[in-house]
Amino acid sequence: MSTHDGIPVIAIDGPTASGKGTIAQRVAQMLGWGYLDSGALYRLSALAALRDGVSLDDEAALAGLAARLPVAFRGATIELAGQDVTDTIRDEAIGNAASRIAALPALRAALLDLQRGFRRAPGLVADGRDMGTVVFPEARLKVFLTASAESRAERRYKQLIEKGFSANLDALLADLRQRDARDANRAVAPLKPAEGAVVIDSTHLGIDQTVAQVLKAYRDLARRAGA
Ligand code: CDP
Repeated sequence: MSTHDGIPVIAIDGPTASGKGTIAQRVAQMLGWGYLDSGALYRLSALAALRDGVSLDDEAALAGLAARLPVAFRGATIELAGQDVTDTIRDEAIGNAASRIAALPALRAALLDLQRGFRRAPGLVADGRDMGTVVFPEARLKVFLTASAESRAERRYKQLIEKGFSANLDALLADLRQRDARDANRAVAPLKPAEGAVVIDSTHLGIDQTVAQVLKAYRDLARRAGA
């Protein structure tokens, strides 16, 4: 038996800019649970590689770097080697580099323990691409959150502009389609709904409505388990 037995996990997976982060954070807040932004770990690995001059093709070096990632999550702030990189890792260039190195099996394996370490009582909401399929296959609820490519590009555009980055909607849409294809077609942990996942299409849903659907799915499950 592992020490994690019984600590519930809600896994929220889905394509880029589907709103997973916002939804997962809100759900965690509502339940009083912890939150894991697994994409941040891929972004941090990419940033660390670029800073250390490690090639994005050097799988062994990248895995070594990811296994010793000097990362600290302090509330909403993310630090790498003691430096606040919360906004830096949201840069599209870092996102694209993260998506490239995320295809490397050794790097993914190196991040597994770090991710599973986030599972603490009373529960964890984890968002990413493979939370329900690989990292927490025993998650109590698995959600696959999606939305049309156009609406995701618009959301990402707004998010970047709000953070003070410059952005171009057409370029974002093209990038997003490329990243979708890369995430879905890679050999290891490809993006796909986990077995038994509740699929939520948020193209026409607001944040509150989407959060409500996730919480309802969780309550329905709990009720059925208790019945
Ligand atoms: O914001 P966006 O959804 O584009 O990205 P993210 O969730 O911050 O993740 C950055 C990149 O890491 C993604 O493009 C994925 O390729 C990769 N990733 C992954 O492979 N597995 C995860 N569990 C999370 C992210």
